Amino acid sequence: MHQLEQTIRMIIKQEELHAKWLNTLSMLENAGARKIAASEHPRKVNLMILKHAAEEARHAYHLKSQIQKVHPTLCETYEPAHVLSPKTSYYYLAQLDLQVCRYLKRELQLQGDALKYAAYLLVTYAIEVRADELYPVYYKVLKETNSKVNIRFIIVEEEGHLEEMIQQLQDFSPQWEKHAKQACQYETHLFQHWLAAVSKEVTSEALDRKPQP
Ligand SMILES: [Fe+2]
Ligand SMILES: [Fe+2]
Repeated sequence: MHQLEQTIRMIIKQEELHAKWLNTLSMLENAGARKIAASEHPRKVNLMILKHAAEEARHAYHLKSQIQKVHPTLCETYEPAHVLSPKTSYYYLAQLDLQVCRYLKRELQLQGDALKYAAYLLVTYAIEVRADELYPVYYKVLKETNSKVNIRFIIVEEEGHLEEMIQQLQDFSPQWEKHAKQACQYETHLFQHWLAAVSKEVTSEALDRKPQP
């Protein structure tokens, strides 16, 4: 079984971990929404970008609201106590953005608004590729365990986002695939690091809870 699926299966066995998982995903969605909003040009922003930022903010809200279905006391904030592997989770997006910006400066000599826009395209693309992998696995496990948590509409919207990012990348550069591949490489590395940290935390939590003989 894939490590992601294995980890999610362990997470949803325990209400508290499941609540933290939802909160962690919510935090990442919110960070994504804020990142998109921060990279918007104050006047050149269009409908597609506004829609994307709004939908990511809604995903953050929706995931947060699902916590009530698994645990009576809400993970109220995104503070470390309520987030899985907080350090790695907090830095994932910022780190990806940093690496992509460095790459764009080096390869395309971009700066200012052009750099901001290109980084938005590549970072968001890589995240959408990841979202399209992660959410369906999570959805499948939720279904199999008859969980009340519902994330179906997020999957549909993330698929739309990926298509929109591809459209925007095609307009950005005829060489978009090369740049996108590089962004995905950075992202894969960070994601694996994140998953390993989450998995470790979840495993040690599970061992702690095993009834002592
Ligand atoms: Fe999202
Ligand atoms: Fe998205």
